[in-house]
Amino acid sequence: MTRRRIKRETIIDLLKESHGYLSGTEMASLLGVTRAAVWKAIGLLKKDGYVIEALPAKGYLLVKSPDLCIADIKRIVSPETKKIGNDLFFYDSIPSTNMVAMELASKGCPDGTVVISDAQTAGKGRLGRSWISPPGKNLYLSIILRPALSPRDATALTLLAAVACTSAIRSATSLAASIKWPNDLIVGQRKLGGILTEIKADIDHIIYAIVGIGINVNLNAEDMPEEIKAIATSIFVETGGHFSRSDLAGAILLEFDKWYGHLLRKGKKVVADEWLTLSSTIGKRVRAAAVNQTFEGVAEGIDDDGLLILKLNDGTYHKMSAGDVSIVRTKS
Ligand code: BTN
Repeated sequence: MTRRRIKRETIIDLLKESHGYLSGTEMASLLGVTRAAVWKAIGLLKKDGYVIEALPAKGYLLVKSPDLCIADIKRIVSPETKKIGNDLFFYDSIPSTNMVAMELASKGCPDGTVVISDAQTAGKGRLGRSWISPPGKNLYLSIILRPALSPRDATALTLLAAVACTSAIRSATSLAASIKWPNDLIVGQRKLGGILTEIKADIDHIIYAIVGIGINVNLNAEDMPEEIKAIATSIFVETGGHFSRSDLAGAILLEFDKWYGHLLRKGKKVVADEWLTLSSTIGKRVRAAAVNQTFEGVAEGIDDDGLLILKLNDGTYHKMSAGDVSIVRTKS
C-alpha cells in the first residue's frame, strides 16, 4: 500500500456520498491508502470542526460540518473556477486578511489567490476605520489579483467585487441586497458588508491588487458593538436563518471569477453597467460627505473611473472619488 497524503475534501466527499456509515477498510481501499492514514485524516478533520462519529463495527459517519472550512469552499470552487480560489489560504485568526494577502502577493503568489480567516484581530475598513471581525460569525476574505490594468482602473476591481458579492448574496439568501456607492453592500438602509481594495502599482500598471471583502453573516443584533448597531445588519438579522459561510464564500468566489474574466476580456464598461443595475444609490437624492465638505444633490451615475456624478442643487455637477453617501428622504 502506498503512503500518500489524503486530501481532506476527498474524505469529506466520500463521507457525504455514503448514505450511512463507511468503514475504514472500505475508505482505505477506495483511496488506495492504509487504514491508519484514513484514521489520521479523520482526526485532522475533527480538529477542523467536523463532527464524525466512529463505531468499531460500522465505521465513520459525518454528523456535522463546520460552517466555514477550506474543504467545503474548495469543493464548490475547484470544478468551475478559472483563476479565483485556485490557491486558498485559510486561518483561524490573523490581524487582517488584506495584510496577509499583501505579504503573499509580495512573495509572488499567483493571480486569484484567496486568503480567508475565521476571525481578524485588526480588520481594516475604508477611510482608516476598523472592521469588527469576531470569530465564528462572519466572512472575511481577500483576493490577490494581478490584472494587466493601469492604477487608474483599480476602481473597476472594487465595482467588480461589489457586483460579485451582491449577486452571490441575492442568489444564496434571496435578500434584496444592493450596492450603496462606492462599495457598501446593503439591505434596506443598513450595511451588510464592505469592500476594501488596496494596490501596489507603478506609474502605469498595477503590480498587484488586494480586494478585501467583509460580510456579516450569522452575527446577532445583540453581538453588534454599540457604534454600529444602528447602521449595520447581517444575513441572520435580516432572514432569521443561519447560513453556511463556506457556501457563501464559494458563491462569491465563483461570481468574482466570472466577472474578473469579463473585465479582462471585455473591459470595465460591462462591470460598471452591472454595478448600475445592482446599485440603490443612482437616481436618488443623496448627502455625500467627503473629507472636508458635504454635498447634497441627485446621484446621476458613475463615470468611467467609478467616480460618483452628483447633480447639485444649483444645477452644477460634482464628481466624488471617496466619501460616505446617505440617501436623503424626501417628504411626500
Ligand atoms: C468598509 O469599510 O466598508 C470596507 C470593509 C472591508 C473589510 C474586509 S474584511 C476582509 C478584509 N480584511 C480587512 O482587514 N478588511 C477587509
